[in-house]
Formats: sequence, C-alpha cells, structure tokens
Amino acid sequence: MKNLYIKNYGCQMNVHDAARMQALLRDAMGYVSVEEPAEADLIILNTCHIREKAAEKIFSELGRLRKLVEGRAVIFAVGGCVGQAEGDNIFRRAPFVSLVFGPQNYHRLPDMLRKLEREGGRVGDQEESVDSKFDALPAITAPGSIASVVVQEGCNRFCAYCVVPFTRGREWSRPVEAILDETAGLIGAGAREIHLLGQNVNAYRAMDRHGVVHDLALLVRQVALLPGVERIRFVTSHPADMNDDLVEVFAQVESLCPYLHLPIQSGSDRILARMERGHTVAEYLGWIDQLRQVAPGIALASDFIVGFPGESEEDFQQTLDLVHRVGFDHAYSFVFSSRPGTVAADMGEHVPLEVGQSRLARLQEALQAIQLQKNLARVECVEEVLVEGQAKRGSGECTGRTLHGRTINFPGDPGLIGRVARVLVTEGLPNSLRGRLV
Ligand code: SAH
Ligand code: SF4
Ligand code: F3S
Repeated sequence: MKNLYIKNYGCQMNVHDAARMQALLRDAMGYVSVEEPAEADLIILNTCHIREKAAEKIFSELGRLRKLVEGRAVIFAVGGCVGQAEGDNIFRRAPFVSLVFGPQNYHRLPDMLRKLEREGGRVGDQEESVDSKFDALPAITAPGSIASVVVQEGCNRFCAYCVVPFTRGREWSRPVEAILDETAGLIGAGAREIHLLGQNVNAYRAMDRHGVVHDLALLVRQVALLPGVERIRFVTSHPADMNDDLVEVFAQVESLCPYLHLPIQSGSDRILARMERGHTVAEYLGWIDQLRQVAPGIALASDFIVGFPGESEEDFQQTLDLVHRVGFDHAYSFVFSSRPGTVAADMGEHVPLEVGQSRLARLQEALQAIQLQKNLARVECVEEVLVEGQAKRGSGECTGRTLHGRTINFPGDPGLIGRVARVLVTEGLPNSLRGRLV
C-alpha cells in the first residue's frame, strides 16, 4: 500500500483537481490518501501562480516537507499552475522534485509515475491540450452534499494583471452531455448542490449532439431538469460576458441559488481600462440593477485589486464608493502583484507597496463592515440550510450553507448531514451566522 499526500493551494478549480487526482491515483495505482505528509510515499503540491507570494511559498514548503521525510524514499511532485508556468525551472530550484506537471496533464499522473519507477530521473509534462483530460478521469464516488462539475476551463480575456490564460490555457468548454452525465452521477452518489466551475464560466459555449448551441444560461436550465438537483451555483463570472438571458435564469430556475460572484476589481473606469477588463463601472452597475430586479435579495460577491499600476487616491476612492453603492455580501481583495509575462508587469506608474497595503486595509475595513451588516440583517430569518458536516468533531454542531451562500453553524445531530434543515438565525458574525433548528 502506498500513501499519497496532496497539499492544495488556490481556487475552487484546484480543490476540484486535487480530489480528481486522489480518485485517479487510488483507482489506477492503489494510493491511499493520508493527512500527514510524514506518512507519504508521494507528495504532490497542487499549486497556484496567481500572486507572487503564493507561488514563492511553494519552494519553502518543499524544503520543509523534505526535512520532514528525511531518510525515506518519497516522490516529490509539483502540479497545478506553478507547475505549468515554471516547468523545468522547478527542477533547478528544487532538485529533489522528480515530477512537474500542469493543470491540463494530471490525468496522465499514473503514466508519469510508472515512467519514473521504470527509468528514474525526472518527468515533466506541460502539454496544454485539455481535450482528453476528463475522459481519462474516474468519477468522484463520495462527493459530499456539495459537488463541483467543471464546465469550462482556461481563459481568453487576458486581463492585464492575470496569469490564468498562461497557466490554464485557452478557453475550452466541456460537451453538454458529459456535464449532464457527470452531474447525474454525483447526484446519484449523494450530492444535493452542484457548482458549475469555470475560470470564466460565462464564456461556456458548446453544441449538444443535436447541434443545439448551449451557452451557460441554457446549460443551467438543462442541469436544473436533472432529478435530484436541489441547488445550483456557477463560478466565476466575468461582467463583460454577462447577458440578459443569464439574468433571466435567476428568475426562472428555482434551483439556481440567489448568489452571484461577479468580480469587478476596481471602481474606477480609468483603472478598469488599464486592466483591460472590457467593461465600465456603469455597465457593471447595470447588471447589478437587472439582477436585483429579477432576484431581489440576491447575494453579490466580488474580487478587488488595489495598487494596480497608475491607481491614484482618487481611483481608489471610486472603488470605496462603488463598494458602498453596491453593498457586497462577500468579497476577496488583494494588493496588486506583478506577474511575469503579463501586460501589467511592464507598466510604469508603480504604486508603492505601503500605499497598496494601506488601501487594502481601508478597503477590507469597508467590505467587512458591510458584510457584518448583511449578516446581522439575517437575524430572526429562517434559512434553508444544506448541512455539509460537523462544525468541529465532537462539538455537537452542524455547519452548512444558506441559499445566499453564507456559512451557518447550529447545534444539531450529524444525522442531518446531506439534508436541508430549517434554521432560525440567532446571531450575525463577521464571517458566518449562528442559529438553531426550527
Ligand atoms: N477567473 C476569475 C479570477 C481568477 S483569479 C475571474 O476572472 O474572476 C482570482 C482573483 O485574484 C481575481 O479576481 C483578482 O482579483 C485576483 N488577482 C488575479 N491576478 C492578480 C494579481 N496579479 N495581483 C493581485 N491579485 C490578482
Ligand atoms: Fe484572469 Fe481576467 Fe481571465 Fe479572470 S477573466 S481568469 S481575471 S484573465
Ligand atoms: Fe491559482 Fe491557477 Fe486557480 S493560478 S487561482 S490555481 S487557476
């Protein structure tokens, strides 16, 4: 029996990929997943290249893990977006790593490992074609109450700051039938909520076997028709790829949760143009208005970057204004990180890190205050909660998600896991709710 330890970084797509790797290596090679790296025979870091800090952390983590397993024969592998972007460079910086692969190659892990066993040395695979990947992957058999289905990968938008088009490659949509089959299988295995994943999920476009072109709105309608699909969400959406029909599905498809992650990044048109986002603040606000008309109370989430090259105090003020105007239920925010190969890496008007950090602190203060207000506004409401698990082992508490995507903890029996419970909200906290069963 061989043990596998995977450490995961980055976005929801990476979380999904790591689960796929575990299933693949279990089915094809008998690897058992362990939680302690010290017990592993194979260590995979499934990495993220989005910001410099995250990418650089990989090398110190490799050093740390290597010490931990000293004296034992352990295979070290680097997968994910750093694996794609850095390629053979990783062998130079960490010579004890023997396997490097990207997000479009992990279905060949068994082949790569067998080659290593046979020949020793090093194996690298950064082939970019995504076409055969999903056919080669075994199904996830124990998905939990929430399951992710990849519908689209890669990105053609090339926002000026972003490495994703380089690490995940060009946009590619999975065939409609493959998505519906996989979803039906996950529901059969116990999932109740389906997350349709894509780097730019709104760009989904594929023909079914009858020649009907499906965009994301039509795909959502089809997924909703599958028996047993109780909740649907899709992530992540790009404002420039919104359309009226995609707004309408929020009104028409009952199982589509009232939640949308629609990153705007900045509240300044000047900065949005420099970021090459392809939309203005007014256009963004137009979508928000439309969404709120068809789905009053819809929860809205965004991402923000502060300190983008050329961002003035006035630009930043416009971001703060936008935040107050929209009132986001949830948001992620970051200081700009210059990434190799992107357009922004060569831009002048660099914003000093201290300025970026102080803007981030001010932005996060505003975002958190609004999020707390929104959470407090749920007190005394009864939420439909999909119970995901125990809050902490042995705590007697369950944790789950409301329709709007908020985490809620409440005293309850583990027998509720996988069911939808009605929970009265008793407390609104900065990042979650508390409640009790009704
Ligand atoms: N596909 C998603 C975003 C993926 S990256 C989308 O288009 O919305 C997640 C977030 O990381 C981005 O929304 C952005 O806010 C942030 N990000 C991306 N590149 C960055 C960089 N170079 N520096 C700082 N933050 C960055
Ligand atoms: Fe990156 Fe922009 Fe593509 Fe999102 S839309 S993955 S931010 S290039
Ligand atoms: Fe990171 Fe790659 Fe996701 S760079 S955010 S893991 S697509």
